[in-house]
Amino acid sequence: MTTTVPQSIHQQSSTTPMLKISGLNFYYGESHILRDVDLTVPKGQMICLIGRNGVGKTTLLKNIIGLLSPRSGAIAYDGQPINSLTADNRARIGIGYVPQGREIIPRLTVKENLIIGLEALGKRAPKAKKEIPELIFELFPVLKTMLSRMGGDLSGGQQQQLSIARALMGQPQLLLLDEPTEGIQPSIILDIENAVRRIIETTGISVLLVEQHLHFVRQADYYYAMQKGGIVASGSTEQLSNDVIQEFLAV
Ligand SMILES: Nc1ncnc2c1ncn2[C@@H]1O[C@H](COP(=O)(O)OP(=O)(O)OP(=O)(O)O)[C@@H](O)[C@H]1O
Ligand SMILES: [Mg+2]
Repeated sequence: MTTTVPQSIHQQSSTTPMLKISGLNFYYGESHILRDVDLTVPKGQMICLIGRNGVGKTTLLKNIIGLLSPRSGAIAYDGQPINSLTADNRARIGIGYVPQGREIIPRLTVKENLIIGLEALGKRAPKAKKEIPELIFELFPVLKTMLSRMGGDLSGGQQQQLSIARALMGQPQLLLLDEPTEGIQPSIILDIENAVRRIIETTGISVLLVEQHLHFVRQADYYYAMQKGGIVASGSTEQLSNDVIQEFLAV
């Protein structure tokens, strides 16, 4: 019987999800925005959150990264509760965030925008070594040719690639992506999809993707559908039915 003890410990550690949200409620003033949200991101997987405009997807990501505080509920990162950590500290323990709308700093160069991403490393940052890893340019070759260009002069698609690259500079274990293909031309959408897939393959990180573009949604392992701040459906993306697509995606 004693042999079961180490086994159960092993099982527990190997199944600890990267992110586990339980019973999360969030209010903007009196407005109840997120309702009893439960959502899990297993390690090494891409999970997609879908839902129509204004249902609370961005609000959920901001609660995870620590820009907003829930009224109740638990957020665990790699098995540890993080509700009391500041946004800075959540970035330092490995949560990367690519905000909706990209938030590139227009009057800094591409290189300077990338270097900002090193902030998330905190004490893990190599002292005074402000280099861009080659992987960034392998994923997004266009950035290599534009390092001294102003961020504000890039196209929407290039800015989105820069925003993802900036988040990767912080070497996240969990990457939150908020509508990375919104307003972007189809050819670049495929580049972004491929880059995200390669990021998962080469670094093993976990991804929580908020997305409306069906082709990208299908790349995820599992989906959650949100309506009025609550999770109302979930399942494997292989089994995404036309009903779910019609109801929760703006296709
Ligand atoms: N700062 C704010 N103060 C009050 N209400 C807000 C604020 N920001 C967002 N809301 C409201 O919270 C709700 C959820 O917004 P949220 O941005 O999370 O939706 P979303 O699902 O990300 O939408 P979209 O698909 O348009 O990005 C909406 O009703 C929105 O109007
Ligand atoms: Mg949003």
